[in-house]
Amino acid sequence: MHGAFSVKADRILNPANREEASLLGQLDLKRLPAHIAIIMDGNGRWAERRHLPRIAGHRSGVRAARGIIETCAQLSIPCLTLYAFSVENWRRPRAEVDFLMRLLREYLKRELPIIHQNNIRLVVIGRPAQLSEPVRQDLEGAMRLTEHNSGMKLVVALNYGGRAELVDAFNALLERVRAANVAPLAVDEQAISDHLYTAGLPDPDLLIRTSGEMRLSNFLLWQIAYAEIYVTETLWPDFSRARLFEALIEYQKRERRYGGLGRKRATSSASAPEG
Ligand code: FPP
Repeated sequence: MHGAFSVKADRILNPANREEASLLGQLDLKRLPAHIAIIMDGNGRWAERRHLPRIAGHRSGVRAARGIIETCAQLSIPCLTLYAFSVENWRRPRAEVDFLMRLLREYLKRELPIIHQNNIRLVVIGRPAQLSEPVRQDLEGAMRLTEHNSGMKLVVALNYGGRAELVDAFNALLERVRAANVAPLAVDEQAISDHLYTAGLPDPDLLIRTSGEMRLSNFLLWQIAYAEIYVTETLWPDFSRARLFEALIEYQKRERRYGGLGRKRATSSASAPEG
């Protein structure tokens, strides 16, 4: 159906093996999501299955993230959001939290030049106030360095919670009203979107969650209203390029209806005999 206009992905990405080649052959580059959001889950289980400490799972998780960031940039996906640390994650043992923060700083130190060379813009969403000063400084430096880059937006959700984001948006709206000293403005959907951390970004078309849990875990609650949800049993450290291609192929098979009837049913009901 899309054959005449489809652009095959294997022409721009060098497949590393036959599996990737076969999956890439099924992908249409013209119908990729504008925004992919990922709940990267399963680092701990990955480590446990190998009788390794949980932190080894997080290290491998960073490797997986690196691969997915690179592949999304090669596919010219406009926006990729990764859920790196939630407001609930502070409940983990102190040593694990410290390790995750250290990993993030290491990642930035090592990868920032490559991110910048690849014209990627780093954006951090969440509540920065609770992050330590060195982490905040590194993040601010990375955002400043890449702010004029026009390629993929890499959005890292850090100390992020969907409800906290809505609370912050409503407070920002109230503050505007207070500051302008005017009668309360009428709030509409656009006004709320404009005051979220993600203002200006497209809503995710595809939400991927690894390691099988059927939960949203307080992630982008407003923004994923119409997103296609793809849950895979694969643990995050095993989420390779091939697994991403599978998610994209599944996404391209779905018909997005936004509450309407969709192409097939709309045509069949329009042509159905009356009475
Ligand atoms: C979930 O595994 C993962 C996290 C808590 C997020 C950490 C993410 C990374 C280290 C990837 C790196 C990201 C960037 C941006 C470089 P889990 O510990 O909840 O796994 P479990 O449910 O199996 O215990």
